[in-house]
Amino acid sequence: MNNRVALITGGMGGLGETISTKMASAGYRAAVTYSPSNKNFDQWLREMEQHGYKFHAYPCDVSDFDSCKNCVASVVSALGPVDILVNNAGITRDMTSGK
Ligand SMILES: NC(=O)c1ccc[n+]([C@@H]2O[C@H](COP(=O)([O-])OP(=O)(O)OC[C@H]3O[C@@H](n4cnc5c(N)ncnc54)[C@H](OP(=O)(O)O)[C@@H]3O)[C@@H](O)[C@H]2O)c1
Repeated sequence: MNNRVALITGGMGGLGETISTKMASAGYRAAVTYSPSNKNFDQWLREMEQHGYKFHAYPCDVSDFDSCKNCVASVVSALGPVDILVNNAGITRDMTSGK
């Protein structure tokens, strides 16, 4: 465990979950964000804990500036300054997504 803080937006989602678990395994104190529509964040945290991962989780809508600002303030207040930010949260709208 090192004392550095990693913040992974969308850290409970597909690629985000892999990034989060890798960062936690590398010894970072990992904070993850979840979207306001995510009703399963508690369950995800419990499942991760069963696998030996302890995450700090914060709600954040990355399309809303104030939501991001409040989220970062909460993370800094609880864990200290963010050393690594992984801007992962987002949606894909390309020819492969069919949207
Ligand atoms: N997979 C690919 O092939 C691919 C290719 C190019 C780029 N990308 C990019 O890589 C990133 C991850 O892709 P993925 O395939 O893992 O996507 P995914 O499974 O759909 O996960 C998207 C993540 O973004 C979060 N999210 C979406 N809208 C949000 C919002 N308004 N506020 C906060 N969080 C929000 C979701 O949070 P909740 O789970 O909490 O709802 C989820 O964790 C995305 O930015 C995507 O555009 C992916």
